[in-house]
Amino acid sequence: MRTVDIIQKKRDGLELTTEEIRFLIEGYTDGSIPDYQMSAWAMAVFFKGMNARETADLTMAMASSGDQIDLSSIPGVKVDKHSTGGVGDTTTLVLAPLVAAAGVPVAKMSGRGLGHTGGTIDKLEAIPGFSVELTEEQFTRQVTEQGVAVIGQSGNLTPADKKLYGLRDVTATVNSIPLIASSIMSKKIAAGADAIVLDVKTGSGAFMKTLDDSIKLAQAMVAIGSEVGRECVAIISDMDQPLGAAVGNALEVQLAVETLQGNGPKDLEEVCLTLGSHMLVLAGKAATAEEAVSKLQELIRSGAGFRKFKEFVAAQGGDSSVLDDPTRILNVKEVVPVVAEQDGYVASITAEEIGVAAMMLGAGRETKESQIDLSVGLRLRKKSGDAVKKGETLADMYVNNTGSVEAVKRKVLDAYRIVSNPVEPDPLIYAVIT
Ligand code: URA
Repeated sequence: MRTVDIIQKKRDGLELTTEEIRFLIEGYTDGSIPDYQMSAWAMAVFFKGMNARETADLTMAMASSGDQIDLSSIPGVKVDKHSTGGVGDTTTLVLAPLVAAAGVPVAKMSGRGLGHTGGTIDKLEAIPGFSVELTEEQFTRQVTEQGVAVIGQSGNLTPADKKLYGLRDVTATVNSIPLIASSIMSKKIAAGADAIVLDVKTGSGAFMKTLDDSIKLAQAMVAIGSEVGRECVAIISDMDQPLGAAVGNALEVQLAVETLQGNGPKDLEEVCLTLGSHMLVLAGKAATAEEAVSKLQELIRSGAGFRKFKEFVAAQGGDSSVLDDPTRILNVKEVVPVVAEQDGYVASITAEEIGVAAMMLGAGRETKESQIDLSVGLRLRKKSGDAVKKGETLADMYVNNTGSVEAVKRKVLDAYRIVSNPVEPDPLIYAVIT
């Protein structure tokens, strides 16, 4: 088999065989296929696409390119959840303990934040003592005994994807639906999921800016699931404005606690209940999504979800007492309000700008090497559709580096669009793809 023939075949819009795709991925992973040939192939895929079978073959070839986590010793259906990323998306912190309290085993690998989006691992590390590094044996034991564990991604998970993603990033081939779908699904499959619930974000703060593209990506991932025997459900949710009310690591822990105690923002609660309900159904813990929502609401009402959060934090070495008073982890010099400059109604809040503002305060990384401050960030006091008076607080900045305050304030004000007439906020959940 010759790489050049495979590139040419795809360039001409023809379908690649399973063997050709495997040859390409194995050769690229072991270094026998160079970057320049892989770039040409990625560009051919960008223009000519791949069908569902080819995309599934690419997914499985990448999933088996490195370590694969074996969760088969843990009883029950292991349902993973994945979000395509956004601003203020603290759903994993709520959902992991909540669905575990419903009897669904949660064995989750999560990432760190980069750029304007946050990462679950950083958020959990805002809890003193919390360790995201468990051996595979500790990880599976904790899931078996406590029902939930969350760790950082293993160094050698899907090395083919890591290499290919780096290449796509510098060859203008990131934005290809089959390449994105296979990249995401390969990591979920290598991490051992039996079934997967996907939260595909849409809007200004999301990877996919339009609803049409978000639906196509969701459909491609669900199709991979059915090709490779992993049940998969995707929801399309809004990321035109940040989700919930907190952007920043400790602040998002605080908000997750409030949500598990039934006092969280309605949008965050609704996304969590929707994702969680599909997780329960896929795990066989509820017959319908409606029944699952009632179960999850009861676990919030009874405090069982919050108690599971405390157990989970303690099991991973964290100081669970801070969850009773999360203000203890908001160690900032100042809380500075950003106030409205006019009366009106919030028409939109550009999620990406808010994410960048939080990053400027030190909550996020500009590069992989940046150090972050886990305490700082933004607490949003007004969301789309809310009425606001001049001088009223739109958001509070939790600040340690006081030198950044004025620039961040401007950024937050620019992110809020205030108009004189009442506005209907965008829908929160646009579609469920099965
Ligand atoms: N996230 C991924 O993991 N892969 C992509 O290709 C894009 C977003």
